[in-house]
Amino acid sequence: MQVHKSIFALVALTVIFSCTRRNVSSTVGSTSQVESRIESILSQMTLAEKIGQMNQVSAGGDVNNYVDALRKGQIGSILNEVDPVKINEFQRLAVEESRLGIPLLVSRDVIHGFHTIFPIPLGLAATFDPALTEEGARVAAIEATAQGIRWTFSPMLDIARDPRWGRIAEGSGEDPYLDARMAEAMVHGYQGRTADSTSMAACIKHFVGYGAAEGGRDYNSTFLTERQLRNIYLPPFEAAVKAGAMTLMTSFNDNDGVPSTGNTFVVKDVLRDEWGFDGLVVTDWNSMGEMINHGFGVDRKDVAQKAVNAGVDMDMMTFGFVSHLEELVKSGAVKEKTIDNAVRNILRVKILLGLFENPYINVEAAKAVQYAPEHLASARKTVEESVILLKNDGILPLNGTPRILVTGPLANAPHDQLGTWAFDGEKSHTVTPLKTLQERFPGRVEYVPGLTFSREKRSGFADVVAAAKRADVVLVFLGEEAILSGEAHSLADLNLKGSQSELLAALKTAGKPIVATVIAGRPLTIERDLPNVDAMLYSFHPGTMGGPALANLIFGDVNPSGKAPITFLRTVGQAPLYYAHNMTGRPYNGETLLDDIPAEAGQTSLGNTSYYLDYGAYPLFPFGYGLSYTTFAYSCIGLDKDTYKADDTISISFTLSNTGAYDGTEVVQVYIRDLVGSITRPVKELKAFERINLKSGESRTLTIQIPVQELAFTGLDGIKKVEPGEFRLWVAGDSASGTPVSFTII
Ligand code: GLC
Repeated sequence: MQVHKSIFALVALTVIFSCTRRNVSSTVGSTSQVESRIESILSQMTLAEKIGQMNQVSAGGDVNNYVDALRKGQIGSILNEVDPVKINEFQRLAVEESRLGIPLLVSRDVIHGFHTIFPIPLGLAATFDPALTEEGARVAAIEATAQGIRWTFSPMLDIARDPRWGRIAEGSGEDPYLDARMAEAMVHGYQGRTADSTSMAACIKHFVGYGAAEGGRDYNSTFLTERQLRNIYLPPFEAAVKAGAMTLMTSFNDNDGVPSTGNTFVVKDVLRDEWGFDGLVVTDWNSMGEMINHGFGVDRKDVAQKAVNAGVDMDMMTFGFVSHLEELVKSGAVKEKTIDNAVRNILRVKILLGLFENPYINVEAAKAVQYAPEHLASARKTVEESVILLKNDGILPLNGTPRILVTGPLANAPHDQLGTWAFDGEKSHTVTPLKTLQERFPGRVEYVPGLTFSREKRSGFADVVAAAKRADVVLVFLGEEAILSGEAHSLADLNLKGSQSELLAALKTAGKPIVATVIAGRPLTIERDLPNVDAMLYSFHPGTMGGPALANLIFGDVNPSGKAPITFLRTVGQAPLYYAHNMTGRPYNGETLLDDIPAEAGQTSLGNTSYYLDYGAYPLFPFGYGLSYTTFAYSCIGLDKDTYKADDTISISFTLSNTGAYDGTEVVQVYIRDLVGSITRPVKELKAFERINLKSGESRTLTIQIPVQELAFTGLDGIKKVEPGEFRLWVAGDSASGTPVSFTII
């Protein structure tokens, strides 16, 4: 008997359910109607059926392998099936051949696009454009939901400050404020502002602190204090919960000895009790089972008990819940009300997505929306805004129809251009730089790859050098294959792999202008390569439309506006190095560097401050850095007051001028420093940013407002609040520029 249909008949009022917190409105009833519907379904369920909802299975392959489990209601969600015909069959078995007919949650890692692949999330962050990022997430949801995917394991909110960590590619970089704005945008984009068949539940991950893996080695332990969690790693998750994220995923790492999947403090005390999160908490892939490896549990029964009692609702691929929860309830080790709460959270997502009313998809219609022209246009625009101009000695933008040599391992790499976590991207749809340039300049492009993949080792590039001599300009595309970043892909050396640097050095001997574009999943250490090129663009794996976007930037149809969401190191030995660091008791003050140290220098002759004798204290490029074809000037920076109270709003006015020859967009950034606190505070923190378009020669006076409450932090007493004192404020184009103004909080 399918009881849910009769229950739905009881609440068939099409009252618009507006859950502002979720930004998801649905015709499934008001909040109270949804909750009473949950209770009605729950009251019909056996303990085994409840536990079945808590089980998520990776279901690629033959549906017949799951018929029995589906009929018994032992599966609540599947992942990794994307064939709409198979998805409909999975749903049919669950809805029409199980006792209660509860639909499945069909999930997938739709991380930066489904079929139309956008830049990897680090590239999305480089746009500093939440609105455009939301648009891209909406495109991903439209394409994915058309094929039956209604839950994505995205956005990833892991703050990352060590580029050795391969998953730095999947997040928004080093800054909590930027991370939070991008998280909100993606939650809104995936879930939509009004729930309908294109709504896809977001999953904020990995909760929490995963990006602080010691040594940048994936899955490694983290040692974050509660204050670091509360001031750096938790705020983006709190923002995403407030934005209405429907689900959350626990992380692999053990923090201070406690794996997140069994961590009552973060999952129950903070997430549930402090933030009031009533969404669905899912483990990462077998992260419950891995608590045995961690030495945090003795067996699957033990870790299942620890996970469910910590507040986890759904088990991804350990099968710990379906194997042991019934026994644990009967023994009293787990209370049935704990199970009930988990099932409530799962049913709530299914109801809010409208799955009970519309569990099936229209297979024919699925194809029509894939790669729609407006999707490709959105992806191209996102790439154009994500690319960072790191160097330009004046060669860019190119113009006219020069004879072009295209070379390098990423010039025509349709698979690698998509980047990591592009499961459903199809390389046949990738538009590479080579393809674009050949079409744009027929007969003017010579292609000599030099290297066919980023790790290739080769001695001598006579063929490439000869071709460069025949050209007016060299466009070289290099960087990282997709496999060299992403999950489990940490690197101890961040230099360009293989013989790429040697290729650049060889090209230099040809004496022609060289424009390099680095296409990678992380900020590589490219200091040694910069002298061999006249200009460098940096594109975090751009996805399907990388070619047209890069051509538009190189030839000036679009002026670069991307800004670094992560610090670019001079050498990997500087890791971790990030802009929002503490002052320390001995801040660097221009002390002597290696080559200037005299022989037999006295032990205390060099000064005693925090820096490297060989690489100093500064990065190659700071957070927020990015050039334009034009130049911008900041002036008349002022505050509406010089003293504020905790409930005031700071109003910052300034004039921004485009002082160069091209129209362009500047990402204005506002940083604030709290000079003295009950704990030591960062030298500055990003508190606002805004993209401002100005025509060449145009000046505009602008105002940015920041509530003083944005300066609150968790101090020595463990209470989040604004502390009075002296502050500095910068308005600038990156985290290392600008002259501060002062204000006081009383
Ligand atoms: C992976 C990742 C996680 C992903 C999940 C499902 O191991 O850690 O981000 O969503 O498994 O593919």
